[in-house]
Amino acid sequence: MASGVAGTADGPMMIIAAEQAEERPLVRDDVTRRMAAPVTRAMAAAIRWAPVRRWLMAVTDKQLPGLWGELLCRKRYAEDGLRTALADGVTEVVILGAGLDTLAYRVPEAARARVYEVDLPANIARKRAALRRAYGEVPGHVTLVPVDFDTEDLAAALERAGYPMGARTFVVWEAVTQYLSESGVRTTLAALAAAAPGSRLVFTYVRADFLDGTNLYGAPAAYRRFASGDHPLWRFGLTPDAVAPLLGAYGWREVEQLGAAECADRYLSPAGRDLPVTDVERSVLAERI
Ligand SMILES: C[S@@+](CC[C@H](N)C(=O)[O-])C[C@H]1O[C@@H](n2cnc3c(N)ncnc32)[C@H](O)[C@@H]1O
Repeated sequence: MASGVAGTADGPMMIIAAEQAEERPLVRDDVTRRMAAPVTRAMAAAIRWAPVRRWLMAVTDKQLPGLWGELLCRKRYAEDGLRTALADGVTEVVILGAGLDTLAYRVPEAARARVYEVDLPANIARKRAALRRAYGEVPGHVTLVPVDFDTEDLAAALERAGYPMGARTFVVWEAVTQYLSESGVRTTLAALAAAAPGSRLVFTYVRADFLDGTNLYGAPAAYRRFASGDHPLWRFGLTPDAVAPLLGAYGWREVEQLGAAECADRYLSPAGRDLPVTDVERSVLAERI
């Protein structure tokens, strides 16, 4: 497993692996298990055993109550957005900070699109190795693009990777903005000007009042781990009403936000699941004007 910011890609995959043991998983995924290295695969198998799963859920939610439920809902939200975009004729998909996420593989229709998975070089190397374990090689519809959003030119890297500038695109930027500097967030949004009007963007953000310690949302341990100290892992946050102006400055219109209440209404209640959902991290759907 990796450490530092690159290591943050591991946690989501354990939760997705655990979810597969549920009777009606919110996110169905048989790829994570195949992508895992032998040790991680053994851990993922153990996590599917109810007592281990409940223990991991309790440990996760002790640190940030409702993170488990929120992660499942945000992944399902990105998946729903991808399916809608593909049904709408979008052929280009850009996944920013993809980590070890399997969106491009677990949604069968995605194989008809061209998918660009972007991350730090360390995690692109891990993803390549993981895909080789699962498929023998990187599937043909996917291009892996190493980029540091804080210091490199995303648009140039995408263009070099073959992304057709100006195409209608579905962009996912899930659980990444909090790890960036404000200038990294803004230059990434500026690079997304390469997407045509009608393109859609699903992204998540962490609440600014959590990062500045004004409201800990019942999660002091997560605040200490992610947001405090001289060099916190989480650096960038927003208030819900700052989302639309930020997007507007870069040619995107906010369509909706998904917080704890919407997660419960849209995904958990219909599935008969009673999971807490944190409102520290929220999802946004936007459309390019
Ligand atoms: C919490 S993980 C989320 C991974 C994936 N999106 C998911 O939801 O499963 C954060 C991801 O953002 C990536 N990331 C963080 N800072 C980055 C940067 N400056 N440039 C590119 N990727 C970055 C990390 O490498 C990691 O894969």
